[in-house]
Amino acid sequence: MRKSFVALLLAAVFWHPRQVPPAAADQAPPSPASVTHGGHPAHGMQHRFEHAEDWVRVFDDPARDAWQRPAEVVRLLALSPGMTVVDLGAGTGYFVHHLSPAVGAQGRVLALDVEPDMIRYLKERVAGERLGNVEARVVQPDDPGLPDGSVDRILVVDTWHHIGDRARYGKKLAAALKPDGFVMIVDFTKESKSGPPPEMRLGPEQVAADLAGGGLGAAAVEESLPEQYVVIGRKPP
Ligand SMILES: C[S@@+](CC[C@H](N)C(=O)[O-])C[C@H]1O[C@@H](n2cnc3c(N)ncnc32)[C@H](O)[C@@H]1O
Repeated sequence: MRKSFVALLLAAVFWHPRQVPPAAADQAPPSPASVTHGGHPAHGMQHRFEHAEDWVRVFDDPARDAWQRPAEVVRLLALSPGMTVVDLGAGTGYFVHHLSPAVGAQGRVLALDVEPDMIRYLKERVAGERLGNVEARVVQPDDPGLPDGSVDRILVVDTWHHIGDRARYGKKLAAALKPDGFVMIVDFTKESKSGPPPEMRLGPEQVAADLAGGGLGAAAVEESLPEQYVVIGRKPP
């Protein structure tokens, strides 16, 4: 009963043949009372993402590729075989699919999320799809749990605004990077018709300032993702 209601609601809210984020990725499975802003929940910074099987219809909607442009995101990450890439706030694993082949059998994808049900779902998905280079782990909201100097890239899509003390968190990400590594944050612009509720959104300048507070040199980079921006933060030389 609940499942069919959710399917109906998601179909009604998200079925739009358009090329920009329909309900994009911060979005709402589901209760009518919680749905605002074109399908986004009225959520607090640290609201939970339970019931992964419901979220998968949003995060892994095949229509997402048209606006998310995952191939462009992967190109901007400049991955090569053997690298270790983190997907922070991995959700249901939309990006894991794209990251896994890019780093190859000798590389590693660390899919991290605070939500145990997302990690439960991800582990099942990764096993089912035999993505042998992917490891999914639950992390604490204020700590990615990464050893110093251990990773080449950290991808954060539609997740940065959920993090509390972002400068302190940025410092932990900076410490986890190898010398040539970088953090890449992808999120919705403040003007986007989709995305988190306006009061939750962070512009690229704020995100760059957060990363700078953590000791990274950060700036927005040129890209063509509709209604989104990409900020890259690097360790100073
Ligand atoms: C809007 S979803 C985006 C999922 C995925 N990045 C995507 O683009 O499909 C945000 C995800 O970040 C996770 N999250 C929120 N706060 C987090 C934190 N402090 N550390 C790691 N994951 C977090 C949530 O549980 C959720 O799965």
